[in-house]
Amino acid sequence: MGKVIAVANTKGGVGKSTTAVHLADWLSREREVVFVNASFQEGVNPWLKELSIPSCQETDPDNLLDLLEDLSSEYIIVDVPGVSEMVRVVLDCCDAVLVPVKPTALDLSDCVKMLRIINRKQKSRKELHAAIFLSMVDKRSNALQDAQAYFKKHRIRLLDTYVRQLQVIADAPLQYQTVFQMGSNAKQASKDYQSLFEELLAMFTTKGVE
Ligand SMILES: Nc1ncnc2c1ncn2[C@@H]1O[C@H](COP(=O)(O)OP(=O)(O)OP(=O)(O)O)[C@@H](O)[C@H]1O
Ligand SMILES: [Mg+2]
Repeated sequence: MGKVIAVANTKGGVGKSTTAVHLADWLSREREVVFVNASFQEGVNPWLKELSIPSCQETDPDNLLDLLEDLSSEYIIVDVPGVSEMVRVVLDCCDAVLVPVKPTALDLSDCVKMLRIINRKQKSRKELHAAIFLSMVDKRSNALQDAQAYFKKHRIRLLDTYVRQLQVIADAPLQYQTVFQMGSNAKQASKDYQSLFEELLAMFTTKGVE
């Protein structure tokens, strides 16, 4: 089994699938990648096909672990639905979990549930990396600063990188592209994702990361 990176949050609509497809596309430029869609939603499947990213869909938690163990690609990206049981199954075998969190009051308080599941799992799986980042950040409001203060107060480590709320990111699946292919309009979005993924991969090489 290759390195398994799960993109997960028990909260819906936070950018999991969008992030997972961008991560798979970014990695696939230099690495062998397979995408596992563990949700019932099929929206990402044609997008992945157009991007020529090998993918499969497995929505049964009982079968998912077997499938992941059988895959031999260097990187396995799992788009995990916001179902607690599915999240727990994936956390049993993944190397890292990337958690997008929207900087709104409701999302912040809901993400505590997800972080509790991860913390509990890390007690038995010390090697499990957790990378939490702010997603869909609207720079015109104070949401970013408020969310960063919230995480600091709760002593939860956030990645330095956040991803802005940008129309070009929302448009990407409609064009069956990722922002990396969308030219000068997508410069900021590409920068955000590249920085996020570099910070994520650095976790595998940095000692002492939680
Ligand atoms: N950074 C962003 N800027 C603007 N729109 C975004 C961004 N990230 C995601 N979106 C849009 O937000 C919506 C939700 O994103 P996405 O489907 O990736 O979330 P999800 O967490 O996978 O949702 P679900 O829980 O339903 O699986 C989509 O319409 C997507 O295009
Ligand atoms: Mg999704």
